[in-house]
Amino acid sequence: MKTLLRTLFAFLLLNFLGCSPQEAKNDTSSQEEKTWWKEGVLYQIYPQSFKDTDGDGYGDFKGVIEKLDYLGSLGITMVWMNPFFESPMVDNGYDVSDYRAIHPRYGSMEDFQAMLDGMHARGIKFVLDVVVNHSSDQHDWFLQSRSSRDNPYRNYYHWWPAEKGTPPYRHSLFDPEGAWEYDSLTNAYYLHTFAEQQPDLNWENPKVRQEVYDIMKFWAEKGVDGFRMDAFQFASKDTTWPEFPEGHEEDFIKWYGMRPQLHEYLKEMYAEVIEPFGVFAVAEGAGSTFLDAHDLVDADRKELQMAYHFETVDLSRTPEGYELEDFKNVFSKWDSAFAEKGWISIFLSNHDNSRLVNRFANPSPEFRTPSTQLINTFLMSMRGTPFTYYGDEIGMTNIDMPTIEEYVDVEALGKYQTAKASGQDLEEFMRILNYSSRENGRTPMQWDSTPQAGFTTGTPWMKVNENYVEINVAAQEEDPNSILNHFRKMVQVRKENPALVYGKYELVQKEHPEIYAFTRTGEGQNLMVVLNFSQNPSSIELETLPTDASVIINNYSTLDVNGNTLNLKPYQALIFSVDQ
Ligand code: NOJ
Repeated sequence: MKTLLRTLFAFLLLNFLGCSPQEAKNDTSSQEEKTWWKEGVLYQIYPQSFKDTDGDGYGDFKGVIEKLDYLGSLGITMVWMNPFFESPMVDNGYDVSDYRAIHPRYGSMEDFQAMLDGMHARGIKFVLDVVVNHSSDQHDWFLQSRSSRDNPYRNYYHWWPAEKGTPPYRHSLFDPEGAWEYDSLTNAYYLHTFAEQQPDLNWENPKVRQEVYDIMKFWAEKGVDGFRMDAFQFASKDTTWPEFPEGHEEDFIKWYGMRPQLHEYLKEMYAEVIEPFGVFAVAEGAGSTFLDAHDLVDADRKELQMAYHFETVDLSRTPEGYELEDFKNVFSKWDSAFAEKGWISIFLSNHDNSRLVNRFANPSPEFRTPSTQLINTFLMSMRGTPFTYYGDEIGMTNIDMPTIEEYVDVEALGKYQTAKASGQDLEEFMRILNYSSRENGRTPMQWDSTPQAGFTTGTPWMKVNENYVEINVAAQEEDPNSILNHFRKMVQVRKENPALVYGKYELVQKEHPEIYAFTRTGEGQNLMVVLNFSQNPSSIELETLPTDASVIINNYSTLDVNGNTLNLKPYQALIFSVDQ
């Protein structure tokens, strides 16, 4: 419903502005450039769950260094690492108390530099997570800001003096009591879009913006190659603080962020940091309309280079899963909006979602391997930079956590409180949470079948999925047909076939209920991608059929062509060249 409303809104807005989505995308004034961040494959590392070397149960930089050859062997060309800065860890590092210091659990600045150099030596670029919609309430800026109304840092945050009465309601994504927190010290409320310990920075204050650019320069000087801008859409809000209509939080981005000033800030950031340091930036979130998304990433506007939207992950938030038709529609719609101009990333999972295998593939032992191979084939063959989340290259799955007592994540706990306070059916709530919670995507990396999956010699900060004995890197290294080795092949296929990066995308037999087929054409190539999303065999009639010679990748060893028909096994995933 939410998606539908968003789409409808985008459509109405485009019409109101007198242009169709097609016209909006065709409004090109410059030739789109080819570049490394379009051609690359990004791998996301959640550092506290990747590899621990000192036995404290938390992953660390030395652990990543130990696994650099593994990263190199995947063929990936970029790493985005979640925040590792000094933090009270209320939101696992998305509450930063010092943007220039490293949380001791990860190591030292020397370790960071060694890790960065090691990536660069392997041709891997590094993308830093920049969390500047908010800071931690333990950041010195906030400690100063809250100390008195005339402190020079007061204006770094949003304050509402209590003598004006109760501030207009604002929904918080993590706090069931809303986004304004009363602070008796100065008899005022401060705003926090996320947890109470994550006060929103006031981007209208030029000093705040300068602080942010200085932080980004600090890391760019150390050699980082790009930035992922966390929750960035909310940096610009309506600070006339109007009352919002009831139910507005359904369209959160529209009401809580993406004000016109955001574009001014981004242009400023581009001129101060992005251009002079030759780095790139990707925004979390792409606005609530295609126009928003285009405005963020249109190269001529000099704001950002890439953004990612949430429509795909929104498709599969409950155990009931998703419809292939909707999946096709989301990807086709976004591709068409960016066909001529602009660039997005393609992602199906990250640290804010449960596991790819459970949401978009089939976790049952019988089908886990082919279905994960299929979804990874898909990820690597769409236009847009593929973002892969650690563990998805071996098909790591959700963990079973049926009771709230096991949860540590601030988002899960907040949602539970909201559900309880509003009298929701808690059994049903837990059923959905168990499937969809972020904890599912944060379990330790499964390296081998030794205790704690080879992640740590100590007690892991979060329990290891007990299926590590079967699902782990070491076991899959041995098997040429494993999910891991298929992932590696697929990264190579993407690198060797420029049509998969820059080629035009066209859906084939849109209505097919089980098969997602599309072509990628350009750069002198004409490729066909055929994916059987079903656990049953299926078939499709095509004008050009694959031959053994024309197949570029196939997750089965057989190819079954009969007359005009291509017969596919459960979750069979093929790419072939139509020209040969
Ligand atoms: C988005 C991040 O991806 C998420 O993990 C975090 O909790 C919020 N932003 C707040 O920073």
